[in-house]
Amino acid sequence: MAAYELIDHEYDVVVVGAGGSGLRAALGAAQQGLKVACVTKVFPTRSHTVAAQGGISASLGNMGEDSWQWHMYDTVKGSDWLGDQDSIEYLVRNAPKAVYELEHWGVPFSRTDEGKIYQRAFGGMTRNFGEGPVQRTCAAADRTGHAILHTLYGQSVRREVKFFVEYFALDLIMQAQSDGTQACTGVTALQLDNGQLHQFRAKMVVLATGGYGRAYFSATSAHTCTGDGNAMVLRAGLPLQDMEFVQFHPTGIYGAGCLITEGARGEGGYLTNSEGERFMERYAPTVKDLAPRDMVSRSMTIEIREGRGVGPNKDHIFLHLDHLDPKILHQRLPGISESAKIFAGVDVTKAPIPVLPTVHYNMGGIPTNYHGEVLTLRDGNPDSVVPGLMAVGEAACVSVHGANRLGSNSLTDLVVFGRAVGLRCGEVVDKASAVPSASKAQTDAHLARLDRFRFADGSTPTAELRLSMQRAMQADAAVFRTGETLQQGTDKLRAIDAAGADIKTTDRGLIWNTDLMETLEYDNLIAQAVVTIESGLNRTESRGAHAREDYPDRDDANWMKHTLAWKRPGEQVQIDYRPVHNYTMSDDIAYIEPKARVY
Ligand code: FUM
Repeated sequence: MAAYELIDHEYDVVVVGAGGSGLRAALGAAQQGLKVACVTKVFPTRSHTVAAQGGISASLGNMGEDSWQWHMYDTVKGSDWLGDQDSIEYLVRNAPKAVYELEHWGVPFSRTDEGKIYQRAFGGMTRNFGEGPVQRTCAAADRTGHAILHTLYGQSVRREVKFFVEYFALDLIMQAQSDGTQACTGVTALQLDNGQLHQFRAKMVVLATGGYGRAYFSATSAHTCTGDGNAMVLRAGLPLQDMEFVQFHPTGIYGAGCLITEGARGEGGYLTNSEGERFMERYAPTVKDLAPRDMVSRSMTIEIREGRGVGPNKDHIFLHLDHLDPKILHQRLPGISESAKIFAGVDVTKAPIPVLPTVHYNMGGIPTNYHGEVLTLRDGNPDSVVPGLMAVGEAACVSVHGANRLGSNSLTDLVVFGRAVGLRCGEVVDKASAVPSASKAQTDAHLARLDRFRFADGSTPTAELRLSMQRAMQADAAVFRTGETLQQGTDKLRAIDAAGADIKTTDRGLIWNTDLMETLEYDNLIAQAVVTIESGLNRTESRGAHAREDYPDRDDANWMKHTLAWKRPGEQVQIDYRPVHNYTMSDDIAYIEPKARVY
């Protein structure tokens, strides 16, 4: 191995990732008087949260009656009863507080005529336990994530969070404890602009590294969404949870995959097939186009399969906004009006937008409790946590979204649990204690992995392996799955994973080596892709976004449980389970009993 030198840093808290959850967690920990660093591979305001469009859910009741109990019911039902109801209660009860906090920090929300925060309707959000759509999603036009991200970055700078920008996190520094378990004591990273290597020792590491949408060929996710934290967790010998649940957003622009917000349907947009029919009326008679995403994506797929798709190849669907007042489009949906023009050549005031379900979100991730602490889940105690390690945002699986996330519950998740992480750091991180040390032996394996890819002289370029992985995921872990497609996908992905032994890189340098960085990202993605498809093959029922045509029903008797999956490099996936929490956080609300999920 080449000789590498590590530059040493010590902090109370190191947050990896600077999207909405990472910034909110870093800011929260700094508010507790802790010394905080944020290590991020892109400039904070370019993190993927910037792309969040439609809004953030909270039962403010600005546009009609609403309550946290209704929001809780919708989220439990949206999750197809796989969400943990204690965590869901924490989410919805803290949502209004978290949104008002954002407002006071300066997020420029759109306003009602009375000057209150504007709220729009979103899929699966209902009044009075399912009676019909409610306006619960707080919006800053259709650039809500952009507005939140810029505000949180400004507030973090104000609180003296130290940013390490364009640093690529390599691996978690883990330390064996006397009882045989492991604690996290830091993270190593590559500084992209000059190739220097760093070790960040910390009393608490918070993974806020987002989802892994780029394991698929077509995704609304940025190219940076490679689930780096999830993969670091797998390499550390810890499990990921519920990875089979991948969300397809119904309205990605056909061909380009760019997001057209669900807020477009919240403002009155609707979908049609080749017969001009508003087909969602058949699938979800009460809420129609505002059904949850898994149902709308399936309905669109059925329409296309049965020959009612639009376009010359009858392979997509139309989203109509052309009946809406152009003034409303200009005021509330300016961003997607521009995207439709650029990516589909459509003037939304005159013609429908061609759309197709596109990968958008990962419900699965690093299992945590609702304080953000990562769970070990291997020693028989369901509540035991990994000392020194937290996770938040799309990287984490709290689990509030269960088998299907409701639109606009993601930004809520980021800020509610980012805030929770900050508060928990204040409780468990001792300012006076010494920062743990790290030995060379602990970090050598990280450097050896980097070195192996830097000097990889096989015959298969990274781009070739990545494309094979993305194609296999797109074809075999799709909106609808069967045992056959999942087995086929498992075989392909195992072979692609094994072909990593023959990987080829060409740039041997360390300064802005995008070849190396993309290879490290690919290595992160392939581990998650394998875990996703094998978790899907293993779950023989249909629930939320996991729609098995060979097992079309939800099977609560056998499958009311979370999947846990372990995979170390070069090893096969191991699967186990943990129960779904059948209790709430407080006595203020009873556990919501499972029932058929109809809208
Ligand atoms: O459709 C959207 O605006 C996306 C929102 C979300 O994923 O929560």
